[in-house]
Amino acid sequence: MATTTESKPPNGPPSGKQLFGHPIGLFVLFFTEMWERFSYYGMRGLLKLYMVNFLFITIRQQYQGKAYEAAGDPNSVLGWTTIKKLLPTVDQAKLAECITEKTAALVKGDEVKKLAPMAEEIAQSVASQTCAVAPNASVLYGWYTGLVYLTPVLGGLIADKYLGQKRSVFVGGTLMALGQFVLFGSEAAFFIGLMLLIIGNGFFKPNISTQVGNLYPPGDPRRDGAFTIFYMGINLGAFICNFICGSLAAAYGWRYGFMAAGIGMCIGMVVQLVGQKTLAPDTRQQQKAEGGKAAAAEKSGSLTKSEWKRVYALIILCALNIVFWAVYEQQGNTMQTWADEKTIWPSWASSTWFQSVNPAFIFLLAPLFDRLWTWQNKRGKEPSSVAKMAIGCFVVGGSFIVMVIGAKLIGSGKGTVFWPIFCTLLLTVGELYLSPIGLSLVTKVSPVRIVSLMMGMWFLSSFFGNILSGYIGQLYTTMSGEIFFLLLMALGIAAGVAIWAFNKPLKSAMAPEPAATPPAEEAAAAQ
Ligand code: PHE
Ligand code: ALA
Repeated sequence: MATTTESKPPNGPPSGKQLFGHPIGLFVLFFTEMWERFSYYGMRGLLKLYMVNFLFITIRQQYQGKAYEAAGDPNSVLGWTTIKKLLPTVDQAKLAECITEKTAALVKGDEVKKLAPMAEEIAQSVASQTCAVAPNASVLYGWYTGLVYLTPVLGGLIADKYLGQKRSVFVGGTLMALGQFVLFGSEAAFFIGLMLLIIGNGFFKPNISTQVGNLYPPGDPRRDGAFTIFYMGINLGAFICNFICGSLAAAYGWRYGFMAAGIGMCIGMVVQLVGQKTLAPDTRQQQKAEGGKAAAAEKSGSLTKSEWKRVYALIILCALNIVFWAVYEQQGNTMQTWADEKTIWPSWASSTWFQSVNPAFIFLLAPLFDRLWTWQNKRGKEPSSVAKMAIGCFVVGGSFIVMVIGAKLIGSGKGTVFWPIFCTLLLTVGELYLSPIGLSLVTKVSPVRIVSLMMGMWFLSSFFGNILSGYIGQLYTTMSGEIFFLLLMALGIAAGVAIWAFNKPLKSAMAPEPAATPPAEEAAAAQ
């Protein structure tokens, strides 16, 4: 199949230049998405702490992780009084314990975090405010991270029907940069900033991913590898942002973390703008080039029988993936709590760095798995995409055996960083078998004219997964650690079994690949 590296996609990029065996456009998309994810994860890393320690209390930390010394007024945040009423009320009995613990911690100070000991009275006031607002912040955080993956369905639909992927990416990028600068510039406009980010992500995220697929002709074996490389870009951004945005927030104040996130987004857009020429025409441009024929097909809007089959198969896969994401997302939720409360970190490290462990492993492991799959492919032994996704679920479920054993051995004390980090290592292997493969599969299997909408569907499973993960995460407080992690293990494995069981019907529904379908052939013939 090596010859395909020289062949040009039917609607492919104008230049056939290659880098590491892939079209140059892949690296333009790589760096665009790296900066966008730098922006997204950099802000997300600050978000919850910013709400709890700054925005929604009156005695504030001006700088991330530093002393509570600034004064502020949560009611000056537009919409806060209304939104607060919509949030679940907090169990007062549970707060008492939190307040006592937090007060004691503040009075004592924290040498590692360089927090000076605080007078009892102020400590009491800070503690009661932060404890009351923390559950609210948690729900808001959950909604934010969920909604961000709800809008891609709309963003995908609008791109397919009206804007095309390229313009959508610019619209989304602009809205997101604006959102970050609103967070930087104005406390009062906090919720407006979040809205801009949610809408912006809807335009951006599905449409940057589908453009990776556009670079390759149907059936090109490099496609999975391309998405793996693209995924490395995502994670390079997710890795470095925690150090840069967090450090700026600690040194100059929270808002400078958001400023860095905004600048990151702008850099991403510049990369995209400069690299425009290396990208394949998007579906909109293709349809324009194909003229009346495509327009008529689009007007009738009807999918053929085999296209419907593929769409259904994708929907079923996305539904099965919800469980995967619900288990996976524990990483930022209960696993982060474990990393905070039950892990002994060296004095030079911060438990929040735990969020950089997974991206670091992705970056290290992705090329290895890419090589493994190429090697298997040459021997005709590469697992199919659906099989890979089932393996991903098994491995993600299986990774929690580490935590089951850890929880059992550690009991009520604290353990070494080995447990969460080794669990994350295995979890990351599972992620590599499912997440980039899924992105690639969507672009392979979806009918071309609704590819962005289907990409939005893919992210929709993350929306539901995030919400489900919140509910599952609640059990962490009421169950023993080992039983909780055993439950996660069982869920992951069950999802794997379900995907495995659907392997045959899904595989047959997804074949033949778009190469053999009328629209793609017509497109090729129209050239
Ligand atoms: N972490 C990857 C990203 O942010 C993949 C992912 C997408 C994970 C959506 C969860 C939800 O792009
Ligand atoms: N691993 C998460 C993603 O791929 C951070 O971006």
